[in-house]
Amino acid sequence: MIRLSPVLEGLGTYPFVKLEAARARLRATGIEIIDFGMGEPREETPAFIREALAAAITPLAPYPTAVGLPALREAIAGWASRRFSATLDPDTQIVPTLGSKEAVFGLAHVFAGDQVVVPQPAYPVYDRGARFAGKEVVELPLREADGWLPDLDAVDWSRVAILWLNYPNNPTGATAPVAFYEQAAALAREHGFVLASDEAYSELYFGSAAPDSALQLSDLTNVAVFNTLSKRSSMPGYRAGFVAGDPDIVAALKKYRPNVGVAPPEVLQRAAIAAWNEETHVTEVRARYRAKRDLLLPALEALGLRSAGGDASFFLWMEGSDDLAAQWLERGVIVAPGSFFGPAGEGYLRIALVPPLEAIERAIERMAP
Ligand SMILES: Cc1ncc(COP(=O)(O)O)c(C=O)c1O
Repeated sequence: MIRLSPVLEGLGTYPFVKLEAARARLRATGIEIIDFGMGEPREETPAFIREALAAAITPLAPYPTAVGLPALREAIAGWASRRFSATLDPDTQIVPTLGSKEAVFGLAHVFAGDQVVVPQPAYPVYDRGARFAGKEVVELPLREADGWLPDLDAVDWSRVAILWLNYPNNPTGATAPVAFYEQAAALAREHGFVLASDEAYSELYFGSAAPDSALQLSDLTNVAVFNTLSKRSSMPGYRAGFVAGDPDIVAALKKYRPNVGVAPPEVLQRAAIAAWNEETHVTEVRARYRAKRDLLLPALEALGLRSAGGDASFFLWMEGSDDLAAQWLERGVIVAPGSFFGPAGEGYLRIALVPPLEAIERAIERMAP
């Protein structure tokens, strides 16, 4: 008889797994499935990045180190400087990660404090990582009336280890101004917790100005920023990300991470260097998502649905019911009910702009009543 970890035992089904059964049922009917559910990029990885990966394959394949190649840390520092005017020391303020999910999950193992504060609705990994680390999860509601920014004054910070923020936000597409990061970082320093800013969608935006980052703060003490090439460079399968910020946090991660076995393979690091050093493909990918958004959003609005979210990330966050999602599902169009991201998401639908443009055209016809 094996016994599961009580945390694993207590977890509900990952919400998207529930869609799997429906997908299999629909597939059996032969209907074309158009999937706006999972937030997985389906754009081609640019050829120059694939070539950099292939060129990096060597006869010997030594174990990679957790601190990563200096050239990768320099490429990340260069990108952060161009994009956010941030000055990061590649040796002490940056550590590469295997995508960002594992680093997000693992963070709660690294710092003392009983509680992890997570936004709600949210990407589920902040919560899961905290639970597996034996910490208590404190949910911080995001509300439409507040532009999906939480009320940081509503929290008792005395027992908090980590505050997670995620802007551009999954699922709402909202962005946060630097002033908000300043407020959160000041609280982090006052109460001795880590401000962890997950900025996985920082490069996907549709407004006139690029979203702000916590890397723009003049003082990064107690601040850790997580970013990734998965969305920016259409590289979800490459698993290439980083954590950057406070040298003490980065030093703690460099101590922790060799224990876990999450050092990114060098071939992937070489591909990541090529990606961080190049911006034209990011402009192109943004244009592709913009074309999808410009097609789908007005069509949904014409159906009487209201956009309730912001103008960044590749998600549309629309007011809409689980019933509507269920109707569309029967017609082969899959969207994520907001309730998948927690109770605060109820009454909304998250629509990931990942299917090809032509498929979105067909979806629009099927979404009409
Ligand atoms: C908010 C958010 N953070 C982090 C990630 C993780 O991305 P990756 O592990 O591919 O870098 C995702 C992926 O969907 C996400 O939505």
